[in-house]
Amino acid sequence: MQKSIFTSESLGAVHVAIIMDGNGRWATKRGLPRVEGHRAGVATVRRIVEHAPRVGIKRLTLYAFSSDNWRRPRKEVEALFWLLRAYLRLESQRLRQRGVCLKVIGRRDRLPRVVVREIEKVETLTAQGDSLHLRVAIDYSSRDAITRALAKLTSGCSLSEPLSIELLRHRISDELTGQSGEVDLLIRTGGEKRLSDFLLWESAYAELLFTDRMWPDFDASDLEAAVEEFRRRSRRFGALPVPTTASLVATRERAQ
Ligand code: IPE
Ligand code: IPE
Ligand code: MG
Repeated sequence: MQKSIFTSESLGAVHVAIIMDGNGRWATKRGLPRVEGHRAGVATVRRIVEHAPRVGIKRLTLYAFSSDNWRRPRKEVEALFWLLRAYLRLESQRLRQRGVCLKVIGRRDRLPRVVVREIEKVETLTAQGDSLHLRVAIDYSSRDAITRALAKLTSGCSLSEPLSIELLRHRISDELTGQSGEVDLLIRTGGEKRLSDFLLWESAYAELLFTDRMWPDFDASDLEAAVEEFRRRSRRFGALPVPTTASLVATRERAQ
């Protein structure tokens, strides 16, 4: 096993979310059909899932298929679901052995039935895993997830006795972040600098990292570099920076 400079203890249970973008361009640049980029992208998923716990990542959410991706040509969508199903089928035992707990987020009612069955199998098989909580977003739209949470929470509420805004906000937050919590670090590969309807609520205070690296080329060292960069960022959540021991010592020395 490759030795890493990071440990879970030093990082805490960091939640990383990744918009895995750039498969198509990676393939086109090589004169290959776009599907070959998606195939190479699956290999990257394997590598990153394997490496994540070594760099202290306990929760990982991967954007695999957005609800807007239905707008792509039918052949590409079919190829994506074929690859997805193959990944789930071939990887399930390995994920279980590695202690990965896999869950799929997003709508299931529009997915091919064979894919839904495969998802259910993997979720059952890996339910006890506790080394990495892996979520894969398929037919996922954050605005859709927020709307559904709101509809669920307010159905049955009478207009004369509405939930207080404060309570509603807490409940929406619980609905959306109950499983994996807020996102700490959001990475997008492929050079674009946008969120494309991914984890909008959950990323309210996420550190954003955009890289030009295409997803098939993203490797363990890129993940380590991203986590290192995250560790250098000063997170304030609207407050003032918490003084570090080093800065306290420096201030005291200046005062002497
Ligand atoms: C990301 O790669 C994978 C999916 C959206 C399913 P793309 O297919 O978007 O690749 P580019 O952005 O066209 O290069
Ligand atoms: C976002 O990538 C969705 C996934 C990576 C699954 P897209 O390639 O679909 O996003 P846009 O269209 O460039 O915003
Ligand atoms: Mg793209």
